[in-house]
Amino acid sequence: MSNTLLNLLADGEFHSGEMLAERLGISRTAVWKQVGRALDNGYPIETVRGKGYRLTGGLDLLSAARIRDLLPDAVQERVQLLVLDETDSTNAEIGRSGHGWSADKVPVCVADMQKEGRGRRGRRWHSPRGENLYLSLGLSFEGGFSILDGLSLVFGVAVAEALQELGVQDPGLKWPNDIFVEGAKLGGILIELRGELEEGWVRVIAGIGMNVHMTDAADVDQNWVSLARLGGHWERNQLVAAILGHLLASVDKFQANGFAAFRDAWQQRDIFFGRPLVATHGDVQGIGRGIDESGHYLLERPDGSLHPVRAGEVSLRVAG
Ligand code: BTN
Repeated sequence: MSNTLLNLLADGEFHSGEMLAERLGISRTAVWKQVGRALDNGYPIETVRGKGYRLTGGLDLLSAARIRDLLPDAVQERVQLLVLDETDSTNAEIGRSGHGWSADKVPVCVADMQKEGRGRRGRRWHSPRGENLYLSLGLSFEGGFSILDGLSLVFGVAVAEALQELGVQDPGLKWPNDIFVEGAKLGGILIELRGELEEGWVRVIAGIGMNVHMTDAADVDQNWVSLARLGGHWERNQLVAAILGHLLASVDKFQANGFAAFRDAWQQRDIFFGRPLVATHGDVQGIGRGIDESGHYLLERPDGSLHPVRAGEVSLRVAG
């Protein structure tokens, strides 16, 4: 798949076969073949006699150079950025990216599409080409596995803050770290562990999926929303840069001060607060009362006691 052809068509305007051939340094027949391959890969290219080719709606291309430009210098120096046309899963890609992760060396992978996008609880994450955000990074933390309850919530707060910075109104968090807007899921975070390293150090792969341009997804079985559906103009490179900036700042703050510094920021966005809830196993019901200092979700039982629920053990849904 030639990215150069797509770059030339990304503006959504008509371009003649002659001009494309000249710019790409190939014959018009070769242009036509590349257009055929792009169509096979799902890009909606229109061909009109006398006008040439047009990518309907234009294309929000991922660009490593543009992402780097948008990152603050301190973040730019820390990340090792890999931008892919396609992959099985960006989380898997980070898992294969070798050793030597550290606070100063954070591998980051963004892809235009995932063939085997992974969601939480073994579910598949719908990952169509060019439409959404698929972003993963590799981090190491001091503190053993016990830090993870809080850490997964910190990621949700960081992503919500990045979205707010870009103008999304009131992004909410569904425990532990789904991003909800207007009652529907906009994005999710998958955290995978890579075993404990030398004493007390754990390696974590954090993957963020967010619906950006998607307007149709027949096979997604939950209530979803995309940034496009919310309205406005969205550029995926800008989202990547904003999310990375907030994530790395939050991770540093978490490593220095622990979860307590994030508890209020999480609670302010809790979409479950005050609602009747049931844990997935169905054995505990109660009213949502936010999180404790470790990031466990609290259910208020009929006798007034608070029952903590751990992420990874159960998930919550609204009762009824
Ligand atoms: C969820 O189920 O809510 C979590 C979804 C996480 C999806 C992202 S997309 C980027 C990264 N790569 C994957 O395979 N999954 C995560």
